[in-house]
Amino acid sequence: MFVIRGGKPLHGRVRVDGAKNSALPIMAAALMADGPTLLRDVPNLVDVTTLADLLRSLGMRIERQPDRSLSMEVIDSRPVIAEYELVRKMRASFCVLGPLLARRGRACVSLPGGCNIGDRPIELHLKGLRALGAEIRVERGYVIAEVQRLHGNRIYLGGPFGSTVTGTCNVMCAATLAEGETIIEAAACEPEVIDLGNMLNAMGAKISGLGTPFLRIEGVDRLTGVEHTVIPDRIEAATLIIAAAITGGCVELENVNLTHMTAVIEKLREIGVRIELADDSPTPLDQLNAIDALLGSLEGDATPTRHNVADDHPVLRIEAPLELRAVDATALPYPGLPTDVQAQFMSLLCLASGISVVTDKVFPDRFLHAAELVRLGATIRREGPSAIISGARQLSGACVMASDLRASAALVLAGLAAEGATVVKRIYHLDRGYESLERKLNFLGADISRIEDKPENMPRSLCLTETTGEPPVSFHAPHFLKLPTRESTKPES
Ligand code: EPU
Repeated sequence: MFVIRGGKPLHGRVRVDGAKNSALPIMAAALMADGPTLLRDVPNLVDVTTLADLLRSLGMRIERQPDRSLSMEVIDSRPVIAEYELVRKMRASFCVLGPLLARRGRACVSLPGGCNIGDRPIELHLKGLRALGAEIRVERGYVIAEVQRLHGNRIYLGGPFGSTVTGTCNVMCAATLAEGETIIEAAACEPEVIDLGNMLNAMGAKISGLGTPFLRIEGVDRLTGVEHTVIPDRIEAATLIIAAAITGGCVELENVNLTHMTAVIEKLREIGVRIELADDSPTPLDQLNAIDALLGSLEGDATPTRHNVADDHPVLRIEAPLELRAVDATALPYPGLPTDVQAQFMSLLCLASGISVVTDKVFPDRFLHAAELVRLGATIRREGPSAIISGARQLSGACVMASDLRASAALVLAGLAAEGATVVKRIYHLDRGYESLERKLNFLGADISRIEDKPENMPRSLCLTETTGEPPVSFHAPHFLKLPTRESTKPES
């Protein structure tokens, strides 16, 4: 669990890691390569380790290099079974289905099972692969897919909540090795799908239309291993920006791709957060994009060259406002506000003056964090796919429970802003998608300890005594009352 002593404004500069949700489907796609693959800037996360274990069980040699790259190569192309024990730990394991089927002609991939962020069906993945000619059945909890040779087809991948990100990855991967041309309509436009498509093209695939809902894929006979740098993690970047904003701090972020963050930056500016290029920001290759984005006039060109600039990303400077403004925020498929930052925005809006409405149109049930935020003193009412938040001036530390990856991040953010100690339990969820988040936040001035979840490790300030029914003495201790408020913590400018 984390014990967070809140009320410390964050200051300093940190680097954003490579994107988890790019790295995972890209690692799976390496199953299709002849020869070695080298992936750079792969974050060191539990999800990456889990997928690496699964890929090893499918005949890959995988080694992590000291420079944060992963070298990968298929050394045995016979295994086709992705076991339940590995797939159930992480839904993204399902990304091996398309590559395995396309390269080995057979795949038995366990169905992932339930999920805390709502229903996560996979029927669109199966629809797409069936359209390419695969015979698919579900048996004993496994999807069993077989084919002699995949054939190109026209496939509509839209679902009731928009397109599917990993579904597009699975079908796009399979179509690269199919005979003939495939058109995917209603393809996901997320930067992570573009990153995978760029890597596949470098491997020899012929994919056009990346970043648009219409993908045209001309099948090829073989793909070869390449070197590829994973794009920066736009969700980690957003989480760190919100950490600066919620603590009344001023933080600089390296390795941010602004073109991926327009919706997040726009919404944060509406809340009052100042976001600029840092004074010493390198002149980025995609400087035009950076400047366009900061001027708010980005037109959304999504050609691959503009999306896969690995070096010289601009440095962002984030400055918290004196007062946060309430806003309405709706999570939508890209280029909308990502559902993966919905929870973090909710934490921020708990401290904004006025009433905010947060809606999630991608995962309408992704609200388990709301009840935990209420334990920290927030006022939140759930109405269908929305949460209505009445902003408070202050949150107060409490013991809360993380339910999934992004909910954990939201609770950590709220804990950073809350008065006193906050305990966030089950932070193993957080470790799935953030590489030592507490180390980065502590480097910026936060006070977070990772300790074993045992009753004796609970901070005294969070234990009520039976005799008085009152919070213990430390709750009223003078240092508490003197904790800086947002106004008093603002650095002189
Ligand atoms: N959906 C269907 N049918 C399907 C597939 C999806 O109806 O066959 C629905 C889902 O229920 C959901 C919506 O479509 O309502 C979008 O789901 P999608 O398939 O796009 O989600 P995913 O591919 O399983 C990825 C990310 C998630 C992120 C979502 C949405 C990875 C590994 N995971 O999941 O990331 O929330 O896209 O952007 O890329 C996270 O990182 O914390 C995370 C959950």
